[in-house]
Amino acid sequence: MLDEIDAAIGAGTENVQTVMDIFAGTSVVASHLKTAGYQVLSNDFLYFSYVLQKCHVELDAKPDFSELPGDPIAILNDLDFKNTHYTEEQCFIYRNYSPAGSARMFFRPENAMKIDLIRLTIEEWFEKALIDEKGYYYLLTSLLEAVPYVANIAGVYAAYLKFWDRRTYKPLVLEEPAIYEGARSRAFWRNYTDMLSVECDLLYADPPYNSREYLPNYHILETIARYDYPKIYGVTGMREYDEQKSDFCKKAKVAAAFEKLISGCRARYLLISYNNEGLLPTEELVRICEKYAAPNTFRLYEYEYRRYKNKIPNNRKGLKEQLYFLERS
Ligand SMILES: C[S@@+](CC[C@H](N)C(=O)[O-])C[C@H]1O[C@@H](n2cnc3c(N)ncnc32)[C@H](O)[C@@H]1O
Repeated sequence: MLDEIDAAIGAGTENVQTVMDIFAGTSVVASHLKTAGYQVLSNDFLYFSYVLQKCHVELDAKPDFSELPGDPIAILNDLDFKNTHYTEEQCFIYRNYSPAGSARMFFRPENAMKIDLIRLTIEEWFEKALIDEKGYYYLLTSLLEAVPYVANIAGVYAAYLKFWDRRTYKPLVLEEPAIYEGARSRAFWRNYTDMLSVECDLLYADPPYNSREYLPNYHILETIARYDYPKIYGVTGMREYDEQKSDFCKKAKVAAAFEKLISGCRARYLLISYNNEGLLPTEELVRICEKYAAPNTFRLYEYEYRRYKNKIPNNRKGLKEQLYFLERS
């Protein structure tokens, strides 16, 4: 939807300098807006999203790794359990998400072990001040972006496959994450309600649109990012969570959540991504937008396709992606 987002902003705004992506997720939209020349404020309440944002939104250049004995990505890719001082006990992913220590088949043992060794090494480098905060988030991003390529899943971590997918046999390989040049931008790790008082010219919001919470779908990435040895439970080894439950995923709260967003923010312009099968019906979201829009500024754009691809074919014919644009009164 990047082209459509650009077009909607271009058609309805003037003098926009600061843009907030308040539900940034992968940070794809936020980093795109940064390269388009805006100063970006990005936010999400998941920590792994914050890590991605710290790299893709905040960094302008590759961090300095001169305190290390060589290229960090090469060193991390070459780690071997035998040559490290870590114990299996420390290896949380190996013990809990591979058949080496559990019934869970999220990763083959050798890749699970590699994720742990890389994660432990990044932490140790940071604790010993061999890398700074920029280097820390850059390397964590490299790890988080490599993991999906060897995970035994059909897209999200709410379940693992019962047979080993071919891709899981490939070794985990870190690559240099992308760095986007642009205006000085900032990442946040907050609930959206705590971002509303932050000033910006345009607020872009891509909230969840159905009742499925994000954390259960991405719990392993969250645990790799935090590496906090959480209590886990159930078939998939879910971490407990409360703070990351979203009002946008609750039928009874979603209207109020949108109203809080639209009425409470400080932006002159608002652009919301949603779809016509979302938890909040189109008529209701239109009504809320119109309530807060300056006369003749509200526009609803609809697109009859979904451009992202996953393993599950999308046969839902009537599905329309939507962009709601308004200038606040
Ligand atoms: C549809 S996704 C955003 C996808 C994003 N545009 C991208 O390109 O990856 C919605 C995001 O909102 C976040 N989220 C949901 N409720 C939130 C809340 N109350 N506060 C902050 N973030 C929230 C989720 O963690 C998720 O990353």
